[in-house]
Amino acid sequence: MAACAHLFLLLALGFPLQETLVGVSALGFNWGTITSHPVPPRVVVQMLKANNISKVKLFDANPAALSALAGSGIEVMVGIPNELLHTLASSSAAADAWVSTNLTSFMGKRGANIRYVAVGNEPFLSAYGVQFQNSTYPAMKNIYESLAKVGLGDQVKVTVPCNADVLLNTPPSKGQFRSDVKETMRQIAALLSQINAPLLVNIYPFLDLTLQTDFPEDFAFFDGTTHALVDGAVTYTNALDASLDMIIVALAGVGYPNVQVFVGEIGWPTDGAIYANVSTAQRFNQGLVKHILSKQGTPQRPGVQIEAYIFGLLDENQKSLLPGNFERHWGVFTFDGQAKYTLDFSGQGLDTNLVNADSVPYLPSRWCVANPKSNESDLVRGAQYACANADCTALAYGGSCSNVGMPDNASYAFNSYYQLNQQDDNTCSFNGLGVITFVDPSIGDCRFLIGVSRAVQTISCFSTSKEAVDVPIIGNFHLLPSELTVTR
Ligand SMILES: *[C@@H]1O[C@H](CO)[C@@H](O)[C@H](O)[C@H]1NC(C)=O
Ligand SMILES: *[C@@H]1O[C@H](CO)[C@@H](O)[C@H](O)[C@H]1NC(C)=O
Ligand SMILES: *[C@@H]1O[C@H](CO)[C@@H](O)[C@H](O)[C@H]1NC(C)=O
Ligand SMILES: *[C@@H]1O[C@H](CO)[C@@H](O)[C@H](O)[C@H]1NC(C)=O
Ligand SMILES: *[C@@H]1O[C@H](CO)[C@@H](O)[C@H](O)[C@H]1NC(C)=O
Ligand SMILES: *[C@@H]1O[C@H](CO)[C@@H](O)[C@H](O)[C@H]1NC(C)=O
Repeated sequence: MAACAHLFLLLALGFPLQETLVGVSALGFNWGTITSHPVPPRVVVQMLKANNISKVKLFDANPAALSALAGSGIEVMVGIPNELLHTLASSSAAADAWVSTNLTSFMGKRGANIRYVAVGNEPFLSAYGVQFQNSTYPAMKNIYESLAKVGLGDQVKVTVPCNADVLLNTPPSKGQFRSDVKETMRQIAALLSQINAPLLVNIYPFLDLTLQTDFPEDFAFFDGTTHALVDGAVTYTNALDASLDMIIVALAGVGYPNVQVFVGEIGWPTDGAIYANVSTAQRFNQGLVKHILSKQGTPQRPGVQIEAYIFGLLDENQKSLLPGNFERHWGVFTFDGQAKYTLDFSGQGLDTNLVNADSVPYLPSRWCVANPKSNESDLVRGAQYACANADCTALAYGGSCSNVGMPDNASYAFNSYYQLNQQDDNTCSFNGLGVITFVDPSIGDCRFLIGVSRAVQTISCFSTSKEAVDVPIIGNFHLLPSELTVTR
């Protein structure tokens, strides 16, 4: 509250509103929690505040996160997992119960500033088949009605995050929903239009670039391209604008040209693939921020500032590897809240350092490494055992530790397993191949992590959350969105 009062005072005195604050308000972060080393939510919220991040999107209504966000003023989008859609669609009593348990109990005077409920997460993803197709809209409608009943119909908006694969592969000016979801999208658009709520679409130029062999590299970024997409009189120079306009045109095609569209997820990973490193991620996310701050909008909606939630805030080392090894490295911050690169939210071209998480409850400075005198084939076996449980994505092709060689790659694997197990001595034995060291064994960009202690955390619902268990189906899961055809 103090910050708002301060801002009001500046306005009242006639000072211009600072660009930094205005700009940041169109930008939020996805805060996913599929990790074995959760940073305590209060530390994360402190980090958000220190970086002037004013919006977050959660994938559920996690009580620990919502309690930590209470009183912060940070605008929150909570999520409803797909598995609840069927129940919420078929019973308004279930929707009432969801709203009272998972929403209103965290709001109120000193509560969390919840402004959106994402009903389902990419429920129409082709890979899911038809399972959520008929329940998403009725679930949204029921949740909206439950919100309206408790007087929150205007304050808290319902929405649904869609994968870009709800669209057919067309030029932006011909944007169209997939025929199997078209009628559902029409119903959803009608509801969103009636209640003045946005549609969310997740857009991943990184996936286009990584998974399509002839996708022009610079079209994924924001600094101009030699391979523009020419669509009638309009020339697109980046994949984001083209994707947004596809969905805007598709909405018009079902009769709702004015529905707001937010980007629910967008980002760039730093490890686990050829195009994934700190400099590409910085280039993309900084370009994104500048593009948003320019308020130039897209050709379909010129001058309408783009609103987007970056994916993601922190790395999540227990996400499914099905999409690729990069899936665990989307964070602008490492799993433990250390900024990976500079990001200037003011758009003034400054090399602004983000503020790292403070008071992270680390385990002691101890690492587990391979005894260098060990038999190499034994080390390979030991590493395989470790990697079956722990995160070894940095060792894979294109990863930050892919070139370290033996025995260092076994050391990386051993340490990852040892930290996963909270530095339990027994988990550094590996039949005598492992030894504990007090000297940081990191090699250049290949960082050997130290875990975050679970012991000192009071109530954390993170490590046992449903999301963490059922990684492949619920939770934020990236697949290739529908592909753009680029004229070359
Ligand atoms: C956050 O905003 C305040 C007030 O505008 C500013 O002084 C501070 O430098 C900003 N911090 C960051 C990390 O951008
Ligand atoms: C609250 O949300 C959680 C998961 O997001 C769910 O398991 C639970 O059933 C919800 N409560 C109600 C009353 O719907
Ligand atoms: C969804 O609803 C449509 C129209 O009522 C129906 O034809 C279709 O079979 C339903 N699909 C599923 C998976 O229930
Ligand atoms: C990051 O990836 C890009 C694209 O593959 C590559 O050109 C660049 O050299 C890489 N940078 C670093 C620091 O690895
Ligand atoms: C390493 O151990 C394997 C059996 O685990 C053995 O066959 C091999 O000869 C050993 N290599 C060396 C260099 O000792
Ligand atoms: C570890 O390094 C050895 C030797 O360079 C290599 O044969 C092996 O494939 C590497 N393993 C991993 C997981 O990177």
